[in-house]
Amino acid sequence: MPPVSRRPPVVAAATLASVFALAGCGGGGGTEPSAVPTAAATPTPGPPWNEVTPLRDASASAGRLVGAAVYSSGLATDATYAGAAGRHFDYLTAEWEMKWDPVQKTQGVFDFAGADAIVAFAEARGAQVKGHALLWHGATPKWVESLSPPELRIAVEDHIRTVAGRYRRRVRAWDVVNEAIDDGTYGLRSTVFSRGLGDDYVAVAFRLARRADPDAELIYNDYGGEGLNRKSDAIYALVKGLKERGVPIDGVGLQMHVNAASYPSAADVAANIRRLADLGLQVNISEMDVQVRNVPGDAAAKLARQRQVYREVVAACLTVPRCEAVTLWGFTDAHSWIDSFFGADDPLVFDEQYRAKPAFYGMQDVFLGR
Ligand code: XIL
Repeated sequence: MPPVSRRPPVVAAATLASVFALAGCGGGGGTEPSAVPTAAATPTPGPPWNEVTPLRDASASAGRLVGAAVYSSGLATDATYAGAAGRHFDYLTAEWEMKWDPVQKTQGVFDFAGADAIVAFAEARGAQVKGHALLWHGATPKWVESLSPPELRIAVEDHIRTVAGRYRRRVRAWDVVNEAIDDGTYGLRSTVFSRGLGDDYVAVAFRLARRADPDAELIYNDYGGEGLNRKSDAIYALVKGLKERGVPIDGVGLQMHVNAASYPSAADVAANIRRLADLGLQVNISEMDVQVRNVPGDAAAKLARQRQVYREVVAACLTVPRCEAVTLWGFTDAHSWIDSFFGADDPLVFDEQYRAKPAFYGMQDVFLGR
């Protein structure tokens, strides 16, 4: 694996991992896979990233964007990482570098180096950018916690105006609020934002984002509500309420961090996408990865099951015209947040040597109508 100077920082790994476990992220409420394929113990590796047809060509033929979360130092220092990102994806998202903590770690001091580099990389390769994320409790610097409610309001206004304003006309969309639903109550999660600004903070954030960038598609993004369950009902209720009140929300992102041993059924994912689209919202699969370490069987069985999950999710997206993009949270098993947050796994579509995995072909086939 080629050397990479810096990976995205790992924040609050234990906290996030337990939240995801509680939420049944990547497990629970889903379909138990039926037959687990049996195959040879050591699968033959696929061809290298630069010998397979660009995934973005396949997705374009289906009228969809295919995205990946990336980090700027990889793009700058690792020719393989950069080459694969540019060749295969036409919708890039910052895995870390557009969040509040990296952008404004100190109050009033903005650092856009990483974010600017990602946007410039995308533009040079004809890719679009999804900004991620304006408000997320998981990436808020400490100083925000100590503000009084009026100070917090000013800080939120300043942050959204400055960040979304900077990338006006350069990003297609923004994840405006990330992960606001609580996994226990299915009401709004208690965060620095809800405590300081009240439950109206979600609407406030979308209005501020619209003002800062009137052209961007404004998205609510969350996990664990991909299929039909209490979480997706809560997300649906939240965004429906916002729409009805005239709050400027344009779309919903379904993260899709799933576990191939138990994942939401394709029918449920399609039905959930459809009900969101019927509200007049765009939908995107925003952070897909597919954990396989709990899948029974040998390496080939895990790869086959993973391919199937990628197939089913892309196919569910393609059933609804307003499902406009499928974004992966990374793209090579050499760099995945799953390893540090959940345990060693290989959740993506290129292996650690950047060779195409069965999952890659699973996505490609469905985009090509095969
Ligand atoms: C994660 C990144 O992958 C990590 O590198 C970082 O340390 C923490 O954030 N849901 C989200 C993403 O919306 O922003 C998170 O990304 C993963 C869960």
